[in-house]
Amino acid sequence: MRTEPEQPWWSRAVFYQLYPRSFADSDGDGVGDLDGVTARLGHLQALGVDALWLNPVMVSPMADHGYDVADPRDVDPLFGGMAALDRLIDAAHRAGIKVTMDLVPNHTSAQHPWFRAALAGGPGCPARQRYLFRDGSGVGGTLPPNNWVSVFGGPAWTRVTEPDGTPGQWYLHLFDAQQPDLNWEHPEVPADLERTLRFWLDRGVDGFRIDVAHGMSKPPGLPDMGDPELPMLALGEHDPRFNHDGVHGIHRGIRTVLDDYPDAVTVGEIWVFENADFAKYLRPDELHLGFNFRLVRADFDATEIRAAIENSLVAAELADSPPTWTLSNHDVDREVSRYGGGATGLARARAMALVLLALPGAVFVYNGEELGLPNVDLPDEVRQDPVWERSGHTERGRDGCRVPLPWSGDAAPYGFSATADTWLPMPTDWAPLTVAAQHGDPASTLTLFGRAIGLRRGRAQLGQTVRWLSTAPGVVAFRCEDALVCVLNAGAVPVPIPGGDVLLASGPLIDGQLPPDTTVWLRTEARPDAADDSTHQ
Ligand code: NOJ
Repeated sequence: MRTEPEQPWWSRAVFYQLYPRSFADSDGDGVGDLDGVTARLGHLQALGVDALWLNPVMVSPMADHGYDVADPRDVDPLFGGMAALDRLIDAAHRAGIKVTMDLVPNHTSAQHPWFRAALAGGPGCPARQRYLFRDGSGVGGTLPPNNWVSVFGGPAWTRVTEPDGTPGQWYLHLFDAQQPDLNWEHPEVPADLERTLRFWLDRGVDGFRIDVAHGMSKPPGLPDMGDPELPMLALGEHDPRFNHDGVHGIHRGIRTVLDDYPDAVTVGEIWVFENADFAKYLRPDELHLGFNFRLVRADFDATEIRAAIENSLVAAELADSPPTWTLSNHDVDREVSRYGGGATGLARARAMALVLLALPGAVFVYNGEELGLPNVDLPDEVRQDPVWERSGHTERGRDGCRVPLPWSGDAAPYGFSATADTWLPMPTDWAPLTVAAQHGDPASTLTLFGRAIGLRRGRAQLGQTVRWLSTAPGVVAFRCEDALVCVLNAGAVPVPIPGGDVLLASGPLIDGQLPPDTTVWLRTEARPDAADDSTHQ
């Protein structure tokens, strides 16, 4: 097991995921930008986070809000351009905060010069080899080359109009049609990614979150998938679109570059749930960390939560890599709403925040989580997520978790921007949720996060071990190596609080009892407990 002094910074870091469109707008156009982040760094410093993960800020037509990259080595003017990123990196580093960026290697924008050249060059041109162009099936090639569906809905293939005006070949896009998949067999594709990696690392970036890290490689012949009607995750390991073995060679290539920058980190977005498969991505010559979505998928239920934590620890052990934890991000409904919404949803989200921040490993907090923001039920006419259109208006998409953050004041835009015309409208009832309203309030969610992160920072021996404690039904309880005991009551009735000094609680404790939807942190003696029932290390 790794000893504490040898651990790299990221192995126990609190990462703050920052959706730049929605954090803070410095120039009054209604869209957040990087100077907005720099101006608000004090919030992040006070919160005590170690690192930022910025969702994509590269040049993009924004068909998928930056996940469609037209120039991977420049910053979009919407976010303030390269100079604004330099200012942010400099200010963040002076504040002791690392900056990691999103990297999108599975696809480019359809506006990328490579793809434009591929369209202009016509069938058989070398530029098409960088993407996955195929002739259609059926008479006259009028049907897609295989039955793959896009994650955003509809077919994963779009037919192009050739330069002579005739209907022509098809290209693969696992996401939006504006996001053509790259052909990772083409030598220029990895070579270009290496340039991109070194470009940002040389500029002072501390690492990358890698988008669709289980994508990129496709099986030879692009065989049909199973039932294309099944939701993406239901297909699991039998889905030929993802988790193809060839992807590991790509990660080894990325790691070779990263090893030239020993302090930098890669975190892969890996929607893979077989522990052994997940662990493969974290072999010593692949990714440093793997995003773990098990708690995102778990309901507020003791059995599910414990199983999610146990499985995550098993996968991390298999890989000898720190576990990672996250409750939400820019792709899923916010947990306050997932757990039932209203006061109950908020109490549960606060309780889960203490579970998350007790655990060993790296933690990812999504902007707004520290304010207890709920998902926003937006009117259809303002929706921007391509999922809404591609699903034929059957999936409402991810806009509800991307609404701008409220900073101060009684009315929208709550200090987010100088204009009330924000890129997504802000609710009228968020005044109590602003940073200013929560600041200094001992009962606020912001204060809870600040205290929990502060206590976590002081925990010298976070270690890797979690020892499960026997509990009443509906309760999840574990002891970490530093003797911190975390007890979550996800049941329906109050339960007695075990012995120890109360360090922090997510809600009021009543007469030595832990009420439902509440978590408590206790400081106990650092010795094995007779009631312990199992250990993960
Ligand atoms: C995963 C990202 O998290 C999501 O926001 C994006 O739409 C897809 N990858 C496509 O890049």
